[in-house]
Amino acid sequence: MELTLNVWRQKNAADPGRFLTYQATNLIPDMSFLEMLDVMNEQLIARGEEPIAFDSDCREGICGTCSLVINGIPHGGQKGTTACQLHLRHFKDGDTITIEPWRARAFPVVKDLVVDRDAFDRIIQSGGFVSVSTGGVPDANAIPVPKHDADRSMDAAQCIGCGACVAACKNASAMLFVAAKVSHLGLLPQGRVEKERRVANMVKAMDAEGFGNCTVTRSCEAVCPKEISLSFIARMNREYAIALLKG
Ligand code: SF4
Ligand code: FES
Repeated sequence: MELTLNVWRQKNAADPGRFLTYQATNLIPDMSFLEMLDVMNEQLIARGEEPIAFDSDCREGICGTCSLVINGIPHGGQKGTTACQLHLRHFKDGDTITIEPWRARAFPVVKDLVVDRDAFDRIIQSGGFVSVSTGGVPDANAIPVPKHDADRSMDAAQCIGCGACVAACKNASAMLFVAAKVSHLGLLPQGRVEKERRVANMVKAMDAEGFGNCTVTRSCEAVCPKEISLSFIARMNREYAIALLKG
C-alpha cells in the first residue's frame, strides 16, 4: 500500500504549526496505524528529515496515550477502537489521510502530534481516588457489592483517560472523562464514603483547567474508544447537585 499523509507538524507550543504532506510507501494492510507512522518515520530519518513526534505506549488500547485525530475524528472513527488498534485494512491503497493532534486549550501541543494531558492528571489528583482504609484483599472482598453496581462501576472504570471525548467536543468538555471517574468510584461502597467531596473537587478542578461545559451533542460518546455511556454524565450531575445541597 501507499498512502498520502497530511500531518500536523509543530516544533513546540509557541510554533504556529502547519500541515506537511508525505508519501508513505512499503505499507501492508495488516499494519497498525502506529506501525505505519513508524515506517514513515524510518523513511524520514533515512532522508535526513525530522521524524514525526507522536505518543504511544501499550499499543493495545489500554494506556490512552495514542492521541491522534485521523481524518477529523479522534482515534479514526472505528467503533470502540483506539488509534493504536486501528489497522490499515480500513483504508484503501492511494488514500489521503489527515493526521492532527487533539485540539483543546487544556491540552497544549508539545510537538507535532503530542499533546500535554497533565490537566487530566490534576483532575484525578483532586479526587479520583479512595482514601478510606479497606484493609487487605480478603477484607475488601468481604464487602458485598450488588451485581448491578459492580457492573456499572466496571463499565465506567474502562475509561483509559485518552482525552478523545474532549477532542471531539465543540466545547472541549471533559465531562465524560470526569463522569466515568466519579462513577467508577462512587458506585462502590468503598468509594461512597467521600463521594460528595470527590465530585465537588473534581468538577472544580475540571473547570479550573479550562474545559468547557456539556451541551449534550453526544460527540464524546460517539468517539470514546471504551464506549463510555453519556448516562454517566447525568449520574455525575445528580451526584454533584446532592454534594452542593449538602454543602
Ligand atoms: S471517556 Fe472515553 S474518550 Fe474520554 S478519556 Fe475516557 S476513554 Fe477516552
Ligand atoms: S498506545 Fe495505549 S491505548 Fe493506544
